[in-house]
Amino acid sequence: MNTEYAVELEHINKVYHTRHFFYRDEETGRRRWYTKKTVHAAVDVNFGIRPGEIFGLLGPNGAGKTSCVKMISGLVRPTSGNVYVEGLHVEKKRLQVLRRIGVVLEGTRTVIWPLTPLENLNYFGNLRGIRGKVLKERARQLLDFIGLKDKMNVQVRRLSRGQRQKLAICIALIADPSVILLDEPTTGLDVQSSHAIREKIREMTRAFNKSMLVTTHDMFVAQDLCDRIGIIDKGKLIACKTTPELLDVFSDKTFEFRLDRIPEPSKFLSIQGVQSVALDENGEGPVLVVSVEQEETIRSAALYEIISLLRDDGYLLKSVSMRQQTLENVFLRLTESTTPSVKPIVSAENQLERRV
Ligand SMILES: Nc1ncnc2c1ncn2[C@@H]1O[C@H](COP(=O)(O)OP(=O)(O)OP(=O)(O)O)[C@@H](O)[C@H]1O
Ligand SMILES: [Mg+2]
Repeated sequence: MNTEYAVELEHINKVYHTRHFFYRDEETGRRRWYTKKTVHAAVDVNFGIRPGEIFGLLGPNGAGKTSCVKMISGLVRPTSGNVYVEGLHVEKKRLQVLRRIGVVLEGTRTVIWPLTPLENLNYFGNLRGIRGKVLKERARQLLDFIGLKDKMNVQVRRLSRGQRQKLAICIALIADPSVILLDEPTTGLDVQSSHAIREKIREMTRAFNKSMLVTTHDMFVAQDLCDRIGIIDKGKLIACKTTPELLDVFSDKTFEFRLDRIPEPSKFLSIQGVQSVALDENGEGPVLVVSVEQEETIRSAALYEIISLLRDDGYLLKSVSMRQQTLENVFLRLTESTTPSVKPIVSAENQLERRV
């Protein structure tokens, strides 16, 4: 057994069968009374999360992130493949697995609205076998940390969306689980709360060796928080690398040439070493954005040529700068690409060995 991972998804496939009544066929535009459709929410998904690690799962809407979270927590059964939490098979050892995990699903459906935050924590704490003084202390500590202490006796239905989200996180943490699954934990939170929650996630993971899975649409949160990132698109894990490795995936360098007037981008494409050219316009005027090869001599020659072309055409070169690669850029290039040339970039060490 691979004891390195606290959570293991092993060649997971998930197919949903949906039924549509009064369905309009997208291809023919004709109305049909009844049709069945299959959706592939996970296609041979294979990754693991180590203790003390924050793993980020990113992907466009409908990519399969929530489905993965639900399969790890046993709410949804994979069509094929195995999920293990601390070496326990999620379907076969359901109760033992549930004791080890805390989940916040997207939205705040886990929170009971007619009760107050304190009552919610008492209720869920009791369900998880936490009682008496320990429960009381932990509930107050969590509410204090997350900034809900002044609302602990107010009915949940009178709380804001962000406050309910904070409570949902407290509920997931009440039983002190070793594996924590957070589906979009910072959505709808203000800047301070999002920052505080990221800090708490980091602190818990490092200090108590928790295993953390975070799904998010916020690239800044992912880049700031996650040690390793998996990008899922149409059910397939198309990237799984450490955050610095992922930022280095498109190893070209992007330069910005700020000019006085709009240039013709296609002119620069014929220069050797230039990989792509785009035009950006903001309040400070037009910017020519050029991606060049990583190799130093080719890059240097390409930059000289771009500048001499600009000088020959009489452009005023206001500034030149190198653009930092961001996770957002990598994410967009990976998920927006329709060209088959973008290969999956799952590192060998991030792949799980098939169990024997
Ligand atoms: N219970 C279900 N029945 C049928 N199809 C489902 C069900 N749950 C999810 N799906 C489909 O599976 C796919 C993946 O859904 P999932 O909720 O996992 O995506 P997601 O990555 O979490 O998206 P989002 O970013 O919008 O939250 C979608 O196409 C969705 O329509
Ligand atoms: Mg989701």
